[in-house]
Amino acid sequence: MQAITITRPDDWHLHLRDGEMLRCVLPDSARRFARAIVMPNLAPPVTTTELALAYRRRILEALPGGLDFEPLMTLYLTDDTPPEEVHAARESGRVHAVKWYPAGATTNSAAGVTDIGRCMETLAALAETGMPLLVHGEVTDPEVDVFDRERVFIERLLAPLLERLPGLKVVLEHVTTREGVEFVRGAGGRVAATLTAHHLLLNRNALFAGGLRPHHYCLPVLKRERHREALVEAAVSGDPKFFLGTDSAPHPRSAKESACGCAGIYTAHAAIELYAEVFEQAGVLDRLEGFASLHGAAFYALPPNRGTLTLRRDAWTVPEEVPCGGQRLVPFRAGEPVQWRIAGDDRG
Ligand code: NCD
Ligand code: ZN
Repeated sequence: MQAITITRPDDWHLHLRDGEMLRCVLPDSARRFARAIVMPNLAPPVTTTELALAYRRRILEALPGGLDFEPLMTLYLTDDTPPEEVHAARESGRVHAVKWYPAGATTNSAAGVTDIGRCMETLAALAETGMPLLVHGEVTDPEVDVFDRERVFIERLLAPLLERLPGLKVVLEHVTTREGVEFVRGAGGRVAATLTAHHLLLNRNALFAGGLRPHHYCLPVLKRERHREALVEAAVSGDPKFFLGTDSAPHPRSAKESACGCAGIYTAHAAIELYAEVFEQAGVLDRLEGFASLHGAAFYALPPNRGTLTLRRDAWTVPEEVPCGGQRLVPFRAGEPVQWRIAGDDRG
């Protein structure tokens, strides 16, 4: 039987939600990851340091005894976020990034940025702090085909922004296209990208396999196979610009299986195991540690974790659904096997 031991990994893009959902999903992440960058798209959004610190306390309160886990908080950028807020965030020591949702691009993004030109002073302040801007890289222009929105965002918005603010660090979150990967590669050391497990494992056919598959719907939407191949190449290449960010985004079953279903795929229950499948298929399991445990921390100027996580190649079947308070959650691969499992950890 095959096993691999890596430095405890981190998840650099995670939706933990709040209340009942938070209590339901948090243990899945905390069993696997030592830290996670926690997305601020709550309703209402986490727009201030004060709100981020209160959210952090709720996360720690929801953590089951015996599990250590460090939530790395983020601020939700709006047209009106003042530069002082970004400095306060840095001084808190608890906030590690600012998230740019183009208004209307995805779940709970209505309060996001309508015109990035209005945020220049605040982004200049962000560059001074050294914290990265985390980018949901999709245009919201309804004229642009949904499968092209990342590529067009890079051309119209991201490339000009990087030119305008040469000191700004940027993470292109959940990159989904070959063009996105190539852009990040060519953009110098201050630009990095996260990659989700589901975009590495699925192409857009998975949305329509035998019928409409709402549990494979997320944003940015899955792309064609040639894009998936480029993502896998980037992930397994060992290039430190690419690191793990699950974008695990739980929604109740009823909100997914609906006439207007929510975007988001829940992967936290098997996150590191799914990435292990990708690296195993590529024949480079020895590179999983860099991608999952080292590159992200280095980009965020944080030390790597102490302790280790051991994975064993031993298939198990994902439950069809998970009870979550009064709701139900359908996890990725529901009713199907995952090839790796957690064999143990040393929490350092
Ligand atoms: C995320 C969510 O549900 O919060 N959904 C998703 O499809 N990824 C939002 C996001 O990251 O776009
Ligand atoms: Zn997300």
